[in-house]
Amino acid sequence: MNIHILRSKAEIDRAVADLFIEQVRNNPKSVLGLATGSTPIGVYGLLVKDHQEHHTDYKQVTTVNLDEYIGLPEGHPESYKEFMRRNLFNHINVDFNRVHIPFIKGTCEESCQAYNNLLSQFVPDIQLLGIGANGHIGFNEPGTKADSKTHTVLLAEKTRLDNARFFNHIDEVPTHAITMGISNIMDAKRIVLIATGASKADAVNKMITGEVTESLPASFLQRHGNVDIFLDKEAAKLLLKK
Ligand code: PGA
Repeated sequence: MNIHILRSKAEIDRAVADLFIEQVRNNPKSVLGLATGSTPIGVYGLLVKDHQEHHTDYKQVTTVNLDEYIGLPEGHPESYKEFMRRNLFNHINVDFNRVHIPFIKGTCEESCQAYNNLLSQFVPDIQLLGIGANGHIGFNEPGTKADSKTHTVLLAEKTRLDNARFFNHIDEVPTHAITMGISNIMDAKRIVLIATGASKADAVNKMITGEVTESLPASFLQRHGNVDIFLDKEAAKLLLKK
C-alpha cells in the first residue's frame, strides 16, 4: 500500500483528481470505478472544473459505481444515481449509456448476476474508494467475505446512523443496499482510497496495520498490489503515533 499523508482535504482532492484526469487523457476508453458519500465530492468538483477548462474528454469513458441503496423511489435526491448526476455526470460529456450503477430489476439474484456480468466486461482501470468508520468499502459491511461478488446487504446500524445526515430522519435511511463485492473491488487494476477526519482514524489504522480480516473489510486491500491511500493528518493520527 502506498500511503500519502497530505496537509488538507483540498490537497488530497487535487492529487486524486489529477490521477483520474491523467488516466482519462492517457486512455480515452478508460473504465473508471466511482464512489459516493461525502468523500469524493471534492474530487468530482475538480474533474468538472478540468472538463470545463481543459475539455478532458469522457465521451468514450465507461463508469461503474460501487453501490446503490435499495428502496428509494426513482429520482430520490439521495439515491446514488442522483448523487452521481448532480456531482459529476451532468457536468461532463460522459455517454449515459456507458454509465453503470447497480440496481434491482427482477430478483436480487438476477440483479447481482447482471452487475457481475457487466463488471467482468468493464474492469476498472482505477477505482475510487472511501472507507466507512466501521471499515466498510462500498457497502461491504464487517463480516463480508473476500470472495464476495455483487450482493444485497442489510446495512449496519453504524452505516445508517453515519448516513442519516443526508436524510431528514434516520427512519428514511434505507435498510438495504446492493454493492459490488470485495472480489469485484479487488479486480480493479488500481485502487485509490481517500479517508479524512478523526472519525476514520481507527478504521484506517486497522486497514493498514491490522490483520487481514472480514471484520474490517478494507483490510483486504492489503492483498492488492496497486493501492494508493490518501489521508489527512486526522485520519492518519493513529499511524503517526507509531
Ligand atoms: P463518507 O462515506 O465519504 O460519506 O464518509 C465513506 C464510505 O462509507 O465509504
